[in-house]
Amino acid sequence: MAEKEKNPAPRVLWTGRLEEKPEAEAFAFQASISVDQRLARDDIRGSRAHVAMLGEQGIIFRDTAAKLDAELGRIAEELESGKIAVDGDAEDIHSFIEGILTERLGDLGRAVHAGRSRNDQVALDLRLYLKRTVPELMAELTGTIRALLDKAEEHTESLMPGYTHLQRAQPVTLGHHLTAWCAGLVRDRSRFTDALNRLDECPLGSGALAGSGLPLDRDAVAKALGFVRPTVNSMDSVADRDFVLELSGACAVTMTHLSRFCEDVILWASEEYKFISLSESWSTGSSIMPQKKNPDFAELIRGKSARAIGNVVTLFALLKGLPYAYDKDLQEDKESLFDSLDTVRGCLRMFRGMMTTAAFNRERMEAACVGGFLEATDAAEYLVRKGLPFRKAHESVALVVRDCVAAGQTRIADRSLAELKTRSELFDADLYDAITPVSCVAARNLPGGPAPEEVRRQITALRKELEK
Ligand code: ARG
Repeated sequence: MAEKEKNPAPRVLWTGRLEEKPEAEAFAFQASISVDQRLARDDIRGSRAHVAMLGEQGIIFRDTAAKLDAELGRIAEELESGKIAVDGDAEDIHSFIEGILTERLGDLGRAVHAGRSRNDQVALDLRLYLKRTVPELMAELTGTIRALLDKAEEHTESLMPGYTHLQRAQPVTLGHHLTAWCAGLVRDRSRFTDALNRLDECPLGSGALAGSGLPLDRDAVAKALGFVRPTVNSMDSVADRDFVLELSGACAVTMTHLSRFCEDVILWASEEYKFISLSESWSTGSSIMPQKKNPDFAELIRGKSARAIGNVVTLFALLKGLPYAYDKDLQEDKESLFDSLDTVRGCLRMFRGMMTTAAFNRERMEAACVGGFLEATDAAEYLVRKGLPFRKAHESVALVVRDCVAAGQTRIADRSLAELKTRSELFDADLYDAITPVSCVAARNLPGGPAPEEVRRQITALRKELEK
């Protein structure tokens, strides 16, 4: 008796063939409602298009189609308003919705699934969900890029050292640096667009794997649901999840970008750099060290990138051994993908908040451009402009730098002209003006370079990309 009571009687769609049902724990193990309930709206939308088509095609009575449609609409509204809630004990969102429909309409409700399987249904729901939510995520991405471009524009003249090997290399501007970040994020945005374009095909009508013998109109359903076309092959439709790989990949690339930006921010916020001061509301203190103001948000975004990368690996591992067509393993795709999408979205918002409220220390950044011989390359280019082959110019300047170091000097400009001339006759008094950080930056005005007007051009070009 006690054993019997463990058996639940949830709504399942597959009673009939199987006499015994799994016990509660086993049933819960194979259920996916906790994850796929976020597809409720999409599931209902798909069902409404399906029943409309069934009615048009004479597979069910038009009157039945109308009643099903009205009830599905009601269920959607009631879920939206909170009048009814998703039953956490249901198997999945598809059986939950069909269950309510049947509860309310009896046999009429049972007509909804003609020519359909949960296999094509879930493939449809997921695509609909992504078509609806990825643009929202992209709007967050666009918002973050815009905020960073605004900051960049404010700082096209704010000098800072550019680094290679984490050593000061050449002077750039903060505007140039922030625009570099944005260039990556703009490509991320186009990766989402690409993935959305490729998944824009409607799998409904693929059935369990082999389509249906009923006269379904796949074109009509695809059109009604706003897809470009139906998918080309029914087995592919239920078996493949390459669009999940692509999107989780796009998330992982974006997170990797954010993670690197955060690493910059963490360095900049350190006492050693002091280039940035994060606002107090975007920092946290220490429970023991009273003086601390930690860049926790940046660290956490960096940390969460690991999860997005892990999700990609999970999804590849999930798919690589699956025989065609549908396998229940595929149910695991959503948890990883949703987690990646949620993570990117949250991180973009946090990163934006942290960056728009941060204050940059222009004096510190500018001061850091002086003293590390960041002007050496420009001094060499000065000699090239005077006709010296670059390799020779490089050597002359290297010797000047050695002279400086030996004399305890920190800038090439600390040498007198006579001293400079011992290393190259071509050095003249105009060198001193040519190698100030401001001149170094202004001279590098090629497309892509750090010169202020060039960075403003880059900002305009990237803003334009965002209108696409
Ligand atoms: N919950 C399932 C999923 O997410 C729906 C499809 C179930 N199909 C099946 N034959 N068991 O993939």
